[in-house]
Amino acid sequence: MGVKMQRIAVVTSGGDAPGMNACIRAVYRAGAHAGVEVYGIRRGYTGMIEGDIYKIERRDVGNIIHLGGTMLGTSRSDEFRTPEGRQKAADRLLENRIDGLILIGGDGSFKGGNYLSEETGIPVIAIPGTIDNDIPGTDFSIGFDTAVNIALESIDRIRDTAISHGRLFFVEVMGHTSSFIALEAGIAGGAAHLVLHDGHEEIEELCSHLETLFTRGKHHAIVVIAEGDQPGCSFGIAKKVSNRIQMESRVCVLGHTQRGGSPTSRDRVLAAKLGVCAVNALLNGQGGVMAGEVMREVVFRPISEVVGKQRETDPRMAVLSQILTGY
Ligand code: F6P
Repeated sequence: MGVKMQRIAVVTSGGDAPGMNACIRAVYRAGAHAGVEVYGIRRGYTGMIEGDIYKIERRDVGNIIHLGGTMLGTSRSDEFRTPEGRQKAADRLLENRIDGLILIGGDGSFKGGNYLSEETGIPVIAIPGTIDNDIPGTDFSIGFDTAVNIALESIDRIRDTAISHGRLFFVEVMGHTSSFIALEAGIAGGAAHLVLHDGHEEIEELCSHLETLFTRGKHHAIVVIAEGDQPGCSFGIAKKVSNRIQMESRVCVLGHTQRGGSPTSRDRVLAAKLGVCAVNALLNGQGGVMAGEVMREVVFRPISEVVGKQRETDPRMAVLSQILTGY
């Protein structure tokens, strides 16, 4: 290890995810335990560029473990995508004598963090925090479990109305171009059919499956749709299906409800583990790596190996859902 770290900073970037606060708290406490000062960077990379950096005190992280969102605020910064923007951010870190950075975010944020680390030599440890769960090198990202459970609760509620009215419902869940939320919430919620992000065009298959189910006597159905890169796509899909099978339908886009609210215990524990291990890694001289959890063990992978890679869902989950929705 080179110079002993005295000040580390933590930033949350990109879409907020439930459990980010629990992670910030863990980072602060691990830093305090090791005798280093922990600084918070407000509003993600935007705040980093503007030097919106302050020393976190013990009380600042009190009573936040159960809160969704991020106490630091977050942003998606276009300026940080440029070398000039990153240089400005690096200058602000140096002015504040920050020796290392903990970055909590998703793939887009990791790209920026990786560039920052490579271009300026500032050690960065990344922690996966996104409801999409689309980061390779970790079984789960912080926020995913909460988002799935919120989606599940909504599906359960919608089921009441679907049954009462004998209706066809389309429930659209987030996840961008990954289908992790759709798969888990769809299986757990007993959906009649799952439309994954790459299946938006498979209308015929969806219609004939629903027709089979209705012919067999089913009088309502819930179809879970992964938003893919077209949030709101369910309206178009629902219209096509309703016209084709001559059945009235309703659409519910769960949207940002899935990103808010109190994190589940799984997300809080994951946040705690990754936060503490990330600080220890930084203090042990590591940088340019992501802390993830694989089979309950914390593992580190170079950020360069995990960024920009589409993490595919487990094909066995798709098979499972096909079996479960087939009858
Ligand atoms: O990456 C998290 C996520 O919630 C995606 O699932 C979703 O497509 C996107 O962010 C929405 O982004 P925004 O909050 O900027 O509309």
